[in-house]
Order: sequence, then C-alpha cells, then structure tokens
Amino acid sequence: MKPRRVDDRQDYYYWEAKKKGYRSRAAFKLLQINGKFGIIKKGYSVLDLGASPGGWSQVAVKLGAEVVAVDINPMPPIEGVTFIRGDITKKETLEKIKEVRSEFDVVISDAAPKITGKWSMDHFISIELARAAFNIAKEVLKPGGNFVVKIFQGEETGKFQRELKPYFRFKKFHSPQASRKRSAETYFIGKGFGGRWRPKRMKSDQD
Ligand SMILES: C[S@@+](CC[C@H](N)C(=O)[O-])C[C@H]1O[C@@H](n2cnc3c(N)ncnc32)[C@H](O)[C@@H]1O
Repeated sequence: MKPRRVDDRQDYYYWEAKKKGYRSRAAFKLLQINGKFGIIKKGYSVLDLGASPGGWSQVAVKLGAEVVAVDINPMPPIEGVTFIRGDITKKETLEKIKEVRSEFDVVISDAAPKITGKWSMDHFISIELARAAFNIAKEVLKPGGNFVVKIFQGEETGKFQRELKPYFRFKKFHSPQASRKRSAETYFIGKGFGGRWRPKRMKSDQD
C-alpha cells in the first residue's frame, strides 16, 4: 500500500522497513537517492559514516558493494560490512578507516546529532558533522568517486555548498520522498570527485 497522505509516510516507511528487514526507515532514503542518482553500483567500495543502526549499510550490501561502516555508537554485525566504532570528527578515526581500506568509490554520510529541537543549534552541529565527513572523503575518495552527505538546512547551507561544489563534476541538494516532509534534512549529492587537490580548471569553474 502506498502512503495516502504526507503524514502517513512516517508509518509507511517504518512498516516497510520492518517488512523488508531493514534496520531503519532511513534505508529508503538511500534507496531513493540511489535510484535517482546511481551513486552505488555492484562491486563498489563504500564508506558509510554515521552508519548505526545499519539501514544504509544493508542497502549498500544489497546493491553489491563492500562496506566499511563507522559510528560513534555500536552497530550489530552485518555480513559484508566491516564496522569501526569511532567519532568522525576525530583524526584517529580516519587512521582506523585507512587501516581497513585506503580508497573508496563512494562515501555516504547520514551522520546526525541528537536533535535538541533548537533549529539553529541542530543545523550548526549537522554542518560540523557534514564537514567532518567531507574531510574524510577528501582523504579516501577515489578520483571520479561519489559522495552523499546529510545536513539540516539553515544559514550555513550556502557556505557549505560553496565549499563542496568545486570538488565535484555533478552537485545537487536533494530531499528524498522518504524524508519527513517537515524535516530540515537534505542531502548533498556530489558525483565525479576531482581529487583531494582540486584541479585548477574543472568544469565547475564555468558553472
Ligand atoms: C540518522 S542515524 C543514521 C542512520 C543510518 N543511516 C541507518 O540507515 O541506519 C545518525 C547516526 O549518526 C551517528 N553519529 C552522530 N555523531 C557522530 C560522530 N561524531 N561520529 C560518528 N557517528 C556519529 C549517530 O550515532 C547515529 O547512529
């Protein structure tokens, strides 16, 4: 059954996740993003940041990827996923990731702070986490690789977008249908990573 009203979506995806064996309704956000933008393909290596309880990792494995997942909180094991417990804002977490694998085709981050309800504080913390995810991506993403990161929208969105844009051939903000209608969350989608040291002239220079 399809959701009848926007307000039904939350329950719809919750029950769909239960039915299909996903650990979170967030799994559908990645499925929808991937359906639209083709981020993950069979045989890709994927780094999943802020991964617990594991819905996105389950989706990536199902799509045929090898997954390294990181979260500050524990995550029950998933076949095909190497889990690292760590804080993505800490340098030692990057070192731990590199010990497992030094390069990835895709970096995805659904990392989010515990919501305080104070819109601008939640926004600033989410930008901080997204920046931490991008700093990791710059170190481990293969040239040509893909990047997806969640933010809660707010006054820093434009600045953050300007920081990321030059690094990708294709870039866009997108909110999948599975995101709650009233939520401030959106995802930056970057495809065709241009390398850690951005080439002097990328197509984006003319955008
Ligand atoms: C919305 S949940 C991710 C849901 C996941 N994508 C899924 O499909 O199951 C956000 C996650 O970000 C994690 N997180 C928040 N701050 C973090 C940090 N500094 N380092 C690593 N993980 C963090 C939280 O522990 C939480 O598990």
